[in-house]
Amino acid sequence: MSQIELRKVSKRWGEVTAVEPLDLTIGDGEFVAILGPSGCGKSTMLFMLAGIYTPSDGEILFDGAVINDVEARDRNVGIVFQSYALYPHMTVRDNILFPLRFKDLPKEEALRRAHAAAGLVRVEELLERKPAQMSGGQQQRVALARALVKEPQLLLLDEPLSNLDASLRTTMRHEIRGLQRKLGVTTILVTHDQIEATTMADRVICMSKGRIEQIGTADDLYHRPDSLFVAGFIGSPPINLLNAEASGGTLHCGEASLRVAGGGDGKRVLGVRPEAVALGSGRFQGAIHDLEPHGRETIYHLSSPLGPVRALEAGAAARFKVGDNVAFGLTSTLLFDAGTTRRIAEARVEAGA
Ligand SMILES: Nc1ncnc2c1ncn2[C@@H]1O[C@H](COP(=O)(O)OP(=O)(O)OP(=O)(O)O)[C@@H](O)[C@H]1O
Ligand SMILES: [Mg+2]
Repeated sequence: MSQIELRKVSKRWGEVTAVEPLDLTIGDGEFVAILGPSGCGKSTMLFMLAGIYTPSDGEILFDGAVINDVEARDRNVGIVFQSYALYPHMTVRDNILFPLRFKDLPKEEALRRAHAAAGLVRVEELLERKPAQMSGGQQQRVALARALVKEPQLLLLDEPLSNLDASLRTTMRHEIRGLQRKLGVTTILVTHDQIEATTMADRVICMSKGRIEQIGTADDLYHRPDSLFVAGFIGSPPINLLNAEASGGTLHCGEASLRVAGGGDGKRVLGVRPEAVALGSGRFQGAIHDLEPHGRETIYHLSSPLGPVRALEAGAAARFKVGDNVAFGLTSTLLFDAGTTRRIAEARVEAGA
């Protein structure tokens, strides 16, 4: 177990900057997720921590000691890749034993540890099998056992569940989370799946284009996104982002005018989560031009004076139909500066719920 610190760490390849200089501290025993779209630098971050890539600049510290020059195999880091990367010609037992090959352990002790790791992820019955003789979920468990066998200070998981089907993914999410709690190992999960990130991790690091956009809990990212990027990336169905302009306490949004306090003057974006569009009463009027029944909720698409708006309503049966005109209000809103893309935390919009 370890506290991890990155100080002004960056990674470039020639002209390509994969990770801009960034600072980050991860507490001992903490479970964090790095969340962001493809190419934003997630794997590069992990590979620098694992010692597979050397940072272009900055320092990486484990428990206060700089480890930039420590080789991957001496770092005591366990890593699980998306592709499992098990050795196909080796049995499960030998795959799990593999990371111990450089450790000066008596054979008995190495076997004891391998069996213990197999037990943790419930593959003790499969020790004689080869990877090809197992399901994807079983292979992923073996990959996890192999990462845990060294009793690592730091566990790195790079999209470990993305090759599994949806129901197995849910099971493995809980299993990995439970295992991490039990072992107390500092863990970093890389994913582009927001559900995976927010359900498994204590804190989520949201990245875009090699930069940290925001670090926070699921609640922070959803309800208090720092930027338009985070607001748009988190949440499904996505947040409504409506172009607006603020001047002298009035927010002009489409053909509507709303009173706003603390919103300044200039181009703005009004953010409204779909569930904050309350249908049935309110100061706006919208026409439903499409609806999506989802069983336990319905998503309505409206044209309105504010612009096109998506509304989400809980409940099995749709209350409205295509063509209906409905009154609606906004129960909560977020306001962003369209230029800087940052949220204006002090803005209060009167949206007439
Ligand atoms: N060895 C390399 N040489 C040059 N550029 C690289 C190299 N590895 C990664 N990059 C670039 O660095 C950026 C970040 O890549 P990285 O693999 O960290 O992204 P990622 O967030 O893990 O994406 P994904 O979700 O697709 O796995 C990308 O623009 C990528 O093309
Ligand atoms: Mg990656």
